[in-house]
Amino acid sequence: MKVDLTKIDQMIDKYSSEEDVPYISILQDINDEYRYLPEEALHRVSKKLAVSMSQLYSLATFYKCFSLVPKGKHEVQVCMGTACHVRGAPRILEKVCQGFKVSPGKTSEDGEFSLETVNCVGACALGPLVVMDGKYHGKLTLNKIGKLMGGYHEKEDN
Ligand code: FES
Repeated sequence: MKVDLTKIDQMIDKYSSEEDVPYISILQDINDEYRYLPEEALHRVSKKLAVSMSQLYSLATFYKCFSLVPKGKHEVQVCMGTACHVRGAPRILEKVCQGFKVSPGKTSEDGEFSLETVNCVGACALGPLVVMDGKYHGKLTLNKIGKLMGGYHEKEDN
């Protein structure tokens, strides 16, 4: 997706009346728009607000909600915390990797799926558990995760 600098300017200007520039809010807006923080956009913020790129990068890498690489259309998190692990999370993860052709921490080549492993999402009783686009899917079996992934592939085909 091409970076629209006019749009970036508008995102920055939105907060211009505030005394302390809320860099995080600006980065959040950019991240929401592009699903990551494009370098070109960060340069614009740096230039317009006279903030160093290194300061912006340290915010971008500190907060997990930001990404410096393009994210897929769908965000998939597989819980690998202890409770999920003992109930078979490694096999679920393997199936997700194969089915969506993606490795943990990466985005599939077709740009559809980004995969992360997490260490507990606070719903241990539902383990093993996968979060797809913010929606929790618990008590998974290989069969259930297969069906769930099939549904995503069907959506893509339509
Ligand atoms: S370990 Fe998976 S939700 Fe807690």
